[in-house]
Amino acid sequence: MEAPFWIERWQKGDIGFHRDAAHGALGCHWGKLGVPQSSVVFVPLCGKSLDMAWFAANGYRVLGVELSPLAIDAFFDSQGLKPESRSSGPFTIRTAGPYEIWCGDLFALPREALSGISAIYDRASLVALPPRMQESYADWLSTKTPDVPILIVSLAYDEAEMNGPPFSIPQPRVRQLLGQSFELDVLSDTDVMEANAGMRKRGLTALQETVYLARRRK
Ligand SMILES: C[S@@+](CC[C@H](N)C(=O)[O-])C[C@H]1O[C@@H](n2cnc3c(N)ncnc32)[C@H](O)[C@@H]1O
Repeated sequence: MEAPFWIERWQKGDIGFHRDAAHGALGCHWGKLGVPQSSVVFVPLCGKSLDMAWFAANGYRVLGVELSPLAIDAFFDSQGLKPESRSSGPFTIRTAGPYEIWCGDLFALPREALSGISAIYDRASLVALPPRMQESYADWLSTKTPDVPILIVSLAYDEAEMNGPPFSIPQPRVRQLLGQSFELDVLSDTDVMEANAGMRKRGLTALQETVYLARRRK
């Protein structure tokens, strides 16, 4: 969705996608990426995700990008940190401890911002975007990010039951979007309907969460 949609969601506190704990995929799968500790993990569309705190607790530094300043402030508050702010072009950058979060549009990030990253962790980015923007995002990942492994957590469901966001991104669609640039391994594919009461209320009867390891094709 476009920026005003997300800005308003954060203003209204309509953030059903936010989880109160780090995602289980990190404990199960992150080690498979072989990312050196102390290096920087890039978290696109980071919201106020506690996954960023998981990375910090496990010895990483975190670079995030997020449209909503409310989300970023809430994240630093949740970590008991008072960030410093600076500007860079259209972005405001807040830093504290192991975190640097750029407030603004992912698609406007300068390439240099990502030059030092050693991995990408992407939960719920593709599902946040309607089909045309999914293509822009996949193209952006393919052409504007360095050659680092990516852990992707995505969702799929019967689109006849519910309108996005979150949009349904079944495995063939993930392969269509990313398969040309990345080798994709499915690390897990789990029925998560029970843990998503909100989605059941919206009409879903089944919800599948898939975790992928994406490595750039040589
Ligand atoms: C579905 S939420 C996922 C948040 C986070 N990854 C998590 O797991 O909680 C999508 C987030 O992306 C942000 N967002 C959407 N479009 C964006 C863009 N173009 N640039 C930066 N952030 C964006 C929204 O404000 C929202 O916080």
